[in-house]
Amino acid sequence: MKAYELIDGESLSAIKIVERPDPTPGPNEVVIDVKACSLNYRDVLIAKGTYPALGRTTGVVPLSDGAGIVSAVGDKVTGFAVGDRVAGAFMPDFVAGTLTPELQAGSLGGAVDGMLTEKAVLPAHGVVHIPDHLSFAEAATLPCAGVTAWYANFVGGNVQPGDTVLLLGTGGVSVFSLQFAKLAGANVIITSSSDEKLQRAKDLGADHTINYRSNEDWQNEVLELTGGVGADHAVEVGGPGTINRTLEAVRYGGSISLMGVLTGMADAVATGLILSKNIKIQGTYVGSVETFRDMNKAIDHHKMTPVVGKSFGFDEAVKALEFLESGQHFGKVVIDYA
Ligand SMILES: NC(=O)c1ccc[n+]([C@@H]2O[C@H](COP(=O)([O-])OP(=O)(O)OC[C@H]3O[C@@H](n4cnc5c(N)ncnc54)[C@H](OP(=O)(O)O)[C@@H]3O)[C@@H](O)[C@H]2O)c1
Repeated sequence: MKAYELIDGESLSAIKIVERPDPTPGPNEVVIDVKACSLNYRDVLIAKGTYPALGRTTGVVPLSDGAGIVSAVGDKVTGFAVGDRVAGAFMPDFVAGTLTPELQAGSLGGAVDGMLTEKAVLPAHGVVHIPDHLSFAEAATLPCAGVTAWYANFVGGNVQPGDTVLLLGTGGVSVFSLQFAKLAGANVIITSSSDEKLQRAKDLGADHTINYRSNEDWQNEVLELTGGVGADHAVEVGGPGTINRTLEAVRYGGSISLMGVLTGMADAVATGLILSKNIKIQGTYVGSVETFRDMNKAIDHHKMTPVVGKSFGFDEAVKALEFLESGQHFGKVVIDYA
């Protein structure tokens, strides 16, 4: 079979296609014939060797996210059969409960092999069935950005009907958050550097849009749009470069789900605003297999379709990473093997 591996280097082209033997499943494992993968900002950092606490993971198969068809099952596996349509979870051993460093270390496409391969072997407890109405490309968007957005809104966050949710930019996590927040009956304010993307966000149900390039003090507009009160909840994908404006834009007693490193890893944070406004900040690291299943139930019930902004072929993985890094996309970038 063909698979990509990370090779030595510090650029997005430091991945190459290699031949590997077809995997056979251990007693508790399933083999997935991968049909599509999706890309996350993390994959850009990993390819460049700049992902925190990971360093260069030469020889590892990249990408956490993939969906496909079960082609073999181990003899102790229950609940999966050859032919099932499935996706792997971001952290296959994080089945439920509290995240630990050990569970996190098993994240796909980090220190252990990921999904950018023709066949992947995973523990059955880290695999989920995908909703029938989704294509493999659509389902491949779910494991990281989808689960993170679900967790940010409904597990770490507690978004309720009528709440105002603030979203930053129109990348994978934010567009999923827009779709989920609208399912929950929330009022969504979303920012972008592009008016064209803001129109696409409106078409998906966004209630208010703000261009953060032409309006650098976008937090003031959030306050105006909420009668001077602020948003109930924010999904913070920006990180140090945006957090202080987000703290201004969130109401007293409001909350922030924080997962983003788009503007870097660390900088001065306005801690005075956190305490004086009683703001709750929830660190977010994707979510468990159980959270993935809960999200899929809602996606299935609402027949929600994830937004695939751009698709590339298996041979075009470097181009796909470059496209993601350029920020031209809306929603998710996928690698569709079909
Ligand atoms: N900890 C976790 O569990 C977890 C999981 C998933 C993602 N993340 C992190 O969350 C962040 C977003 O991930 P993603 O996969 O959604 O990324 P993505 O798809 O690459 O999102 C990129 C988009 O973010 C927007 N953006 C960039 N800089 C911005 C800024 N300064 N202010 C507002 N928006 C900005 C841009 O939107 P416009 O083009 O519309 O301006 C850009 O197109 C990344 O840092 C990623 O590492 C963390």
